[in-house]
Amino acid sequence: MLSMFRCTCHKSLNQLPITNRWNKAKFSTSSRSLYDHILVNRPAKGVSLVTLNRPKSLNALFTPLILELNDALQSADSDSSIGAIVITGSERAFAAGADIKEMKDKTFSEVYEQNFIRNWSEATRVKKPILAAVNGYALGGGCELAMMADIIYAGEKAVFGQPEIKLGIIPGAGGTQRLTRLIGKSRATELILTGKTLNAEQALAWGLVSAIYPPDKLVEETINTATLIASHGRLAVQAAKESINYGLQVGLEDGLLYERKLFYSLFATHDQKEGMSAFIEKRPSKFKGN
Ligand code: CAA
Repeated sequence: MLSMFRCTCHKSLNQLPITNRWNKAKFSTSSRSLYDHILVNRPAKGVSLVTLNRPKSLNALFTPLILELNDALQSADSDSSIGAIVITGSERAFAAGADIKEMKDKTFSEVYEQNFIRNWSEATRVKKPILAAVNGYALGGGCELAMMADIIYAGEKAVFGQPEIKLGIIPGAGGTQRLTRLIGKSRATELILTGKTLNAEQALAWGLVSAIYPPDKLVEETINTATLIASHGRLAVQAAKESINYGLQVGLEDGLLYERKLFYSLFATHDQKEGMSAFIEKRPSKFKGN
């Protein structure tokens, strides 16, 4: 059973985005959520669970929600008691994409000059592992957000896609880049140019997700994996994530060199001595994250 409680961990007021400063003033007691469009809970040791919570719009991603999500991710990343982050939505929708109502009347000069979606990639700057638990629709920006995670699990009824072409636009938060790298050029091009969607079985077969669970078990299973990850040495986990992601940007030789440097650097940590001692002494490791 998941123990749900409200997030009370925050930076000082002047470090918060404007919407959250306003919320903090509005909700001064810890019994109320600091956020309007997401919920932040700590369902298990070392795990932060961020739930997109805009049900009437199928969690359509608009600026206030993105700012809250970024704030929650930054808070979890800088919280030493957190080792892994889970992002989820509702059983009907992870997120049905960027908010079309927010975008409809924007002009080229507005989106270009203000760099409209510049804040959408915060998840990719988080050092701790992020797991996406996708039930229902993950379309457009919702699919792109899921693909920014390090691991994606899907509910049996999950629907993935980049349907932007049907709106007269193309994906703008990484869809043409990350989907292509994850499932290959032909499949990604077909999805992006037709606007067709992908069900959970296809997403698993094509390597977009690593497991499928019944909708009511998905978040719990994702939290279980996040808990396991959070139980390992934090520096080793972060180094592994960093090495994997660096390797996706560069050629094999550079990636191998980078991996080896990180591997060597972990010999400077307490957790390396502890992990190896615990193995030899046939006891569980007591990692400290340093
Ligand atoms: N933006 C704003 N509102 C949205 C939305 C979105 N992306 N997706 C759904 N909603 C709203 C609907 O407008 C509707 O609100 P109202 O009741 O006020 O009309 C409510 O959510 C429920 O939606 P539907 O009635 O359409 O529900 P449905 O079950 O019939 O269909 C759906 C579900 C197939 C997901 C459909 O809502 C849909 O196609 N949504 C749009 C998906 C999309 O095109 N996403 C890409 C957006 S562009 C983008 O993301 C750009 C980028 O890369 C950054």
